[in-house]
Amino acid sequence: MTVKEVMVIGAGQMGAGIALVFARSGYQVKLYDTDIEALKRGRQYVEQILEKDMAKGKIEADTKSEALDRLQPVVDLEADPITADFIIEAVVEKMDVKKEVFRKLDELAPAHSLFATNTSSLAITEMAAVTNRAEQFIGMHFMNPVPVMKLVEIIRGLETSEDTCQTVKELTEALGKQGVEVKDFPGFVSNRLLMPMINEAVYTVFEGISSIEDVDQVMKLGMNHRMGPLELADFIGLDTCVSIMEILHEGFGDSKYSPCPLLRQYVQAGRLGKKAGRGFYTYND
Ligand code: NAI
Repeated sequence: MTVKEVMVIGAGQMGAGIALVFARSGYQVKLYDTDIEALKRGRQYVEQILEKDMAKGKIEADTKSEALDRLQPVVDLEADPITADFIIEAVVEKMDVKKEVFRKLDELAPAHSLFATNTSSLAITEMAAVTNRAEQFIGMHFMNPVPVMKLVEIIRGLETSEDTCQTVKELTEALGKQGVEVKDFPGFVSNRLLMPMINEAVYTVFEGISSIEDVDQVMKLGMNHRMGPLELADFIGLDTCVSIMEILHEGFGDSKYSPCPLLRQYVQAGRLGKKAGRGFYTYND
C-alpha cells in the first residue's frame, strides 16, 4: 500500500517527533492533540529541530519551510473527514485511553487506513480488538528522541496482516530508520530490558547504596552508556516508566517488575522528569 498522508494522534514529546520525521521525509502530516497547548508546543518543537538542522547545514531553508507546510495541526478530530492512509497514536501510556482513541478512529477513518500505536509496552492485540480492522493494526515503536534514534520496533499483533507489516517496514526505511520485528509480549524487547535496569537504579538510590549522580556515573563511565539510567528515566518521563513497570508486572506476574516505591513517589510529587522541569534532576529550560 502507498502511504501519502499520515495522521499523528498526541503531540507530546513522541508525537511531535514522529510528526517531524514524517513531514521531513515528504509525507503530508496531520497532528492532533486534545490539549491545544500541547499542539502548539509540538509545532514549536518541530520548528526548533528543523532550525537546528538548518544551522548545522543538514537541510536547506526550502526543505524547512516545505516540511512545515506539510504539517497541519488538527484541533477537532470530528470537524473534517479523516483522509490519512496511516494513523499513528502516541497518547499517554494507558490502555483505556488508547482503546478509546482507536474506537473513535475506527468510526472516523477511511476503511483503507492502517492504524499503528507507538506504545512502549501495552498489548497491540488488545488495542486492535476494539477496532474492526485488526489485520490493519500494528505497533510502530519509535525511540526517544525520535529525530535522532535509528531504531523502530515493529510489533505484530496476533491478527496483523503480512501486507500491513510490509507497509510499515517500508515506511520505517523511508524515514531513514531501521526496523526490528518483535512479537507482542509485555515491554517487547526494548523496554523488557531497559525498564528493569532503570527500576533497579532507582532501588539503589532508595536503599541508600549510592547517590543519583553516582549511579549514573557508574553506568556511563563503567558500562559506556551514553546516559545514566536515572538521567534516561527523566528523559523518558517517570510516569511513563511507572506505567511500563506496571504493565511488565501485570503481564508476567513476577514481583521483580514491581515499580520501586521511590519512583512512584516522584510521580506523586509531580516530578515527572525533563518534561516537568524536575525529576531525579532539575532542568531550567
Ligand atoms: P507525553 O505525555 O509527552 O504526551 C502525550 C500526549 O497525548 C499529551 O500531549 C496529551 O495531551 C495527549 N493526549 C492524551 N490523551 C489524548 C487523546 N485522547 N487524544 C489525543 N491526545 C491525547 O507522552 P510521550 O512521552 O510522548 O509518550 C506517548 C506514547 O509514546 C506513550 O504510549 C509512551 O509509552 C510512548 N513512548 C514514549 C517514549 C518516551 O521516551 N517518552 C519512548 C517510546 C514510546
